[in-house]
Amino acid sequence: MNVKIRLARLDDLPEVMKIENACFGQERFDVNIVRALLTRRNSFTLVAEECRETVGAAMCSCSVRSAHGRIASVAVLPEHRNMGVGSKLITACEEEFRRRGVTRFTLEVAVDNATAVRTYLANGYRIVSEISDYYSRGRSAYNMEKDVTMEGRRTKVRVS
Ligand SMILES: CC(C)(COP(=O)(O)OP(=O)(O)OC[C@H]1O[C@@H](n2cnc3c(N)ncnc32)[C@H](O)[C@@H]1OP(=O)(O)O)[C@@H](O)C(=O)NCCC(=O)NCCS
Repeated sequence: MNVKIRLARLDDLPEVMKIENACFGQERFDVNIVRALLTRRNSFTLVAEECRETVGAAMCSCSVRSAHGRIASVAVLPEHRNMGVGSKLITACEEEFRRRGVTRFTLEVAVDNATAVRTYLANGYRIVSEISDYYSRGRSAYNMEKDVTMEGRRTKVRVS
């Protein structure tokens, strides 16, 4: 398996919508939201490609001022799952966040989406809170977070 992750451009919109349709069906993002996430300065989209086929996508937004990034969606085509593509997308989102000066990453995921919750936990995210009725009445979300603000900071220790 040779998966390449790259930043998406506006002409990737049809492929990203294909991933959204295949993975989220009726709950997919509207095409106008995806277009905005592809083109706005404070957001970015990544695509995962295998043999030139788009097999996954991740969409993010960020606020450089507050050093906060939000993963809005990560999705991998069913036949390409459980091979590390989702985790590669998450890692690549974090790299792009860091490149933009963002060090706190958050996301919302449906409480009943056990596969996705496990994938995020495996990638270092922790559950911060549960938000009732987030998606619809009775469908709650976990708010998850990974904070790397202190990573790499050296503490000066005075030895007397
Ligand atoms: C959530 C989702 C993105 C995960 O994508 P994925 O490509 O399957 O993720 P990974 O392969 O990195 O991890 C999934 C599992 O495969 C395992 N795995 C990773 N690489 C592997 C490999 N090379 N060989 C075997 N297993 C592997 C992981 O350990 C993980 O196992 P676990 O579930 O027991 O913890 C995918 O299931 C999906 O698209 N779901 C529908 C959309 C969705 O709900 N998105 C999340 C909400 S935004």
